[in-house]
Amino acid sequence: MPQGTPAAGDTGVGTGFTSAEQAAMRRALQVARNPGVPLGPNPRVGCVLLDAAGRQVAEGFHRGAGHPHAEVEALRAHTAAYGGPPTGLTAVVTLEPCDHTGRTGPCTQALLDAGIGRVVFAQPDANPVAAGGAATLRAAGVDVAGGLLEDEARSVNRAWTFAVDHGRPFVTWKLAASLDGRVAAADGSSRWVSNEAARRDTHARRAQCDVVLAGTGTVLVDDPQLNVRDETDRPLLPTRQPLRAVMGLRSLPAGSRVLDGSAETVLLRTRDPRDALAELFALDRQHVFLEGGPRLAAAFLAAGLVDEVVAYVAPMLLGGGTHAVEGLKINTIAEALRLEVADVATLGTGGARNVRLVMTPVRAEERKG
Ligand SMILES: NC(=O)c1ccc[n+]([C@@H]2O[C@H](COP(=O)([O-])OP(=O)(O)OC[C@H]3O[C@@H](n4cnc5c(N)ncnc54)[C@H](OP(=O)(O)O)[C@@H]3O)[C@@H](O)[C@H]2O)c1
Repeated sequence: MPQGTPAAGDTGVGTGFTSAEQAAMRRALQVARNPGVPLGPNPRVGCVLLDAAGRQVAEGFHRGAGHPHAEVEALRAHTAAYGGPPTGLTAVVTLEPCDHTGRTGPCTQALLDAGIGRVVFAQPDANPVAAGGAATLRAAGVDVAGGLLEDEARSVNRAWTFAVDHGRPFVTWKLAASLDGRVAAADGSSRWVSNEAARRDTHARRAQCDVVLAGTGTVLVDDPQLNVRDETDRPLLPTRQPLRAVMGLRSLPAGSRVLDGSAETVLLRTRDPRDALAELFALDRQHVFLEGGPRLAAAFLAAGLVDEVVAYVAPMLLGGGTHAVEGLKINTIAEALRLEVADVATLGTGGARNVRLVMTPVRAEERKG
């Protein structure tokens, strides 16, 4: 699939990468994002092979844990299309080629075996187990350059990158509140604070995470299912579901909906958010969707363990009832936990529209700076 033939040696404007390499990286990022790839512990990765004239001659992407890596897929696609070995080609990859044998062999070896002459990658692999690919390739005489469209590559695997960098999963706290900041009415009822469009949006966001977490309080009061359901309210297949996690010391009744077979469930018998995240990280989980309730949210916020907030604000007043956060122990405006707005949208139609705010907590060190 030739896509333009830039002059050999054309290095693009001030980047050190040819315009063919830049175009190939954009394509590799596109194939990496393939929506058909299920959630899993592995990053999304794309690879495009370029010939000496800068033509894109093969591509591949990683289909998830246990499947060949993107580089191997692209090499196979090249062999299938052209027969002979891809000697002298340039491999353009969204993530530094791995250098370890996991469920599959090291990509560095596959690239060396194929006689690849140059490797261009976007994001360095910070995973201590797989890192070192660039150094191995260089030591074997391959021309290697990294950092091309790195920010874009990091955003493709936002949670994976965060988890590798921080040694814990990324945490998104979701809440649905009335205009006066209540998530449940005085009698404890909370269905439904948000409108249908907001609830659909919540399911779409749950599906992007690999854990849905709630406290025992919410599970005992609301008996939520905490799974991902489609537009017709049918649960997705159990294999496509995030892990359900319930945190707290109390036991749940055997008939709790969170214990049905529609998805896996883990009970985190702790009140320490750090321990809970460590347990989820050990289960290879990278993105927690924290659905409350108010006491658990406060614990995560107080520990500085909320990385993103998704709030649905409904045009209703509840007058009393449960606050969105209970027990944050803030006494004066100077102690306010401030958030930075990343996105605002309205969901639904007419007078029942909800406002969705996506926000990032401003960390104490950022406030001082
Ligand atoms: N509208 C919304 O978005 C929304 C979302 C969720 C909940 N809600 C509402 O919130 C209400 C429930 O409130 P809640 O505060 O009881 O729910 P919660 O925060 O889900 O549960 C609190 C319980 O979690 C356990 N827990 C575990 N770690 C904790 C920690 N570090 N700090 C504090 N507690 C910890 C404790 O139970 P153990 O004794 O078992 O350890 C605690 O009693 C319900 O009415 C529900 O409808 C609304």
